[in-house]
Amino acid sequence: MNSSTPEHHPTRVLVTGGAGFIGANFLQHMVPAYPDVAFVTLDALTYAGHRRNIAPVAEADNFTFVEGDIADAALVGRLFDEHAFTTVVHFAAESHVDRSIQDPLAFVRTNVVGTATLLEAARTAWRDDGDYRFHHISTDEVFGELGAEGTFTEATPYAPRSPYAASKAGSDHLVRAYGHTYGLPFTLSNTSNNYGPYQHPEKLIPLVILRALREQPIPVYGDGQNVRDWLHVQDHALALDCILRHGRTGQTYLVSAEVERTNLHLVETLTDLVDAALDRPAGTARQHITFVTDRPGHDFRYAVDASRVRDELSWRPQYDLPAGLEQTVRWYLDHPDWLEAITDEDYAAYIDAQYGT
Ligand code: NAD
Ligand code: TYD
Repeated sequence: MNSSTPEHHPTRVLVTGGAGFIGANFLQHMVPAYPDVAFVTLDALTYAGHRRNIAPVAEADNFTFVEGDIADAALVGRLFDEHAFTTVVHFAAESHVDRSIQDPLAFVRTNVVGTATLLEAARTAWRDDGDYRFHHISTDEVFGELGAEGTFTEATPYAPRSPYAASKAGSDHLVRAYGHTYGLPFTLSNTSNNYGPYQHPEKLIPLVILRALREQPIPVYGDGQNVRDWLHVQDHALALDCILRHGRTGQTYLVSAEVERTNLHLVETLTDLVDAALDRPAGTARQHITFVTDRPGHDFRYAVDASRVRDELSWRPQYDLPAGLEQTVRWYLDHPDWLEAITDEDYAAYIDAQYGT
């Protein structure tokens, strides 16, 4: 670790979107790891958020859950007054590209207006020169798409191409503008595609596991040759812990395990893992792979150069992709109640509208 890096010591932390996929994994790491730090989660419990995701920390003395909207300025202001937060870790967002194509304004509201609301509350509350930090979680999708070669770095210009990516880019710009204009102490991370426990099965990996398990058609967009760069969510949580405490204010960190796969290769691996875990004949689930109409504006390839977070903060991913995928498949197969609860009527309606199956 760079010894000249100033430390941040979080004591009272607002975690937005803690009932979602990455937020829940972050809390499951942080709440037991830092028993003297108070964590308050603000989450609207949209279709993507679930109380089950925070059940492992719900009874901890240093954890409080508040149901509410990050764009509700009165509520956010009241929470800052009541809890005197030293730290914000901002996950809450509308996060699914396909839904952003169907309903872009919901993304503008939560991702742009919601982020601005939090920034205003922090600016109002943090008037002295105390030890404060606003960490904003963003995506590599703000950089647009890559061709067959190259990687995104912290210097890559923004070129978002979906309503989701554009709304996240807008939120990133606001965070930096608050840093520049008002001196708000922030850090920002742009992360590659995450996978692991508690991910909503609208996203590729849990969708494939679920549909392989249930022997339903497994939709692959286009020819399956699009490339994504995969990071285990628990490695992301460890990176955020590092950035929060040791990251330099005003700095951006790109986070990734630097592991690329075509979608088709990944889907075939997952179907084989599900068959193996269920002792089914090899190839049972592969038969259900179905090529479907491509996503409009589908970005071809994402790939992230994570050397800054490795070199400056000594973070290293613990999972390699094969081990991470095996652990992930096992987790979904071992949690039928979670899958049952999350695949409710709303989920069935979404799947029907999206895939017609
Ligand atoms: P998610 O969709 O699983 O969870 C989002 C959470 O935010 C849910 O609990 C939801 O209820 C909550 N939420 C949504 N709107 C809200 C509002 N208006 N007020 C309060 N809470 C609200 O998302 P995720 O995959 O956990 O992603 C978390 C963050 O990480 C997002 O900012 C996303 O853009 C970013 N990110 C995700 C990935 C990924 O692969 N999942 C990759 C890079 C960056
Ligand atoms: P997704 O999990 O939606 O993440 P993102 O679009 O943010 O990268 O999708 C990952 C990749 O998988 C992306 O290239 C789109 C593709 N995909 C499919 O081929 N079929 C599907 O049903 C889904 C949801 C995604």
